[in-house]
Amino acid sequence: MNLIILLTLLLTLVSGEDDVQCLRGVKSSLNDPRQSLATWNFSNSSIGFICNFNGVTCWNDQQNRIITLNLGDFGLEGGVPKDLKQCESLQNLDLSGNKLTGSIPNDLCVWLPYLVSLDLSDNELTGVIPDGLGNCTFLNTVVLSGNKLSGGIPNSLTNLRRLTRFSVANNELNGSIPSGLGGFGKESFEGNSGLCGKPLRKCSTRTRRLIAL
Ligand SMILES: *[C@@H]1O[C@H](CO)[C@@H](O)[C@H](O)[C@H]1NC(C)=O
Ligand SMILES: *[C@@H]1O[C@H](CO)[C@@H](O)[C@H](O)[C@H]1NC(C)=O
Ligand SMILES: *[C@@H]1O[C@H](CO)[C@@H](O)[C@H](O)[C@H]1NC(C)=O
Ligand SMILES: *[C@@H]1O[C@H](CO)[C@@H](O)[C@H](O)[C@H]1NC(C)=O
Repeated sequence: MNLIILLTLLLTLVSGEDDVQCLRGVKSSLNDPRQSLATWNFSNSSIGFICNFNGVTCWNDQQNRIITLNLGDFGLEGGVPKDLKQCESLQNLDLSGNKLTGSIPNDLCVWLPYLVSLDLSDNELTGVIPDGLGNCTFLNTVVLSGNKLSGGIPNSLTNLRRLTRFSVANNELNGSIPSGLGGFGKESFEGNSGLCGKPLRKCSTRTRRLIAL
């Protein structure tokens, strides 16, 4: 019995069935007015068939396991797809330059624990930057610029020890920049009228008092 479960698990991992489901879900959950995903045809299920899809890169072409999903400037509309949770071995996610709405899922790092690079810039995302984003410990790139994100920058992002590229510029963020992120340049934070602290202007004591209230 246990052997059967183990074999099933192994077969699933090797076949990359989950990654296929992931892309099916991504395609069906997004509006695609420019037909950018039209080439995603699931009727040919030969080994590695998803590796030829527009925007998809696999770990190797003999396996349906995705390392990179780059759907930048595809003209896509909708929310960040929940189905991404089935692309568990994904390392690079680029959904920049689309018309994505809604918020960044707090569970993104539960879904995609191995994420190294996340680019959601130039969409129409709203809501806060979720605390949970600090749980993707392998992240070295986080680009969330050019959205309508509001609230503060969560302290949890200072847990991202590998971060070398970071931007939340041109959003509607406010509050003080966590000191652990103060090493990034101004351009990482510009265009948010409510943000203060290094590397931007000092937070005024008045602002601090308001926060305390
Ligand atoms: C997908 O491919 C099959 C066979 O390769 C073809 O018959 C079908 O029309 C294609 N579907 C789309 C949506 O392109
Ligand atoms: C199915 O996909 C494989 C790999 O991409 C390709 O070599 C083959 O020609 C395709 N078959 C059909 C019927 O489209
Ligand atoms: C992030 O990690 C912390 C500490 O392990 C945990 O308490 C929290 O629930 C996690 N958040 C999410 C959204 O995964
Ligand atoms: C930041 O903006 C939110 C509304 O988006 C508001 O509730 C909060 O009080 C503001 N915080 C600061 C520190 O200004």
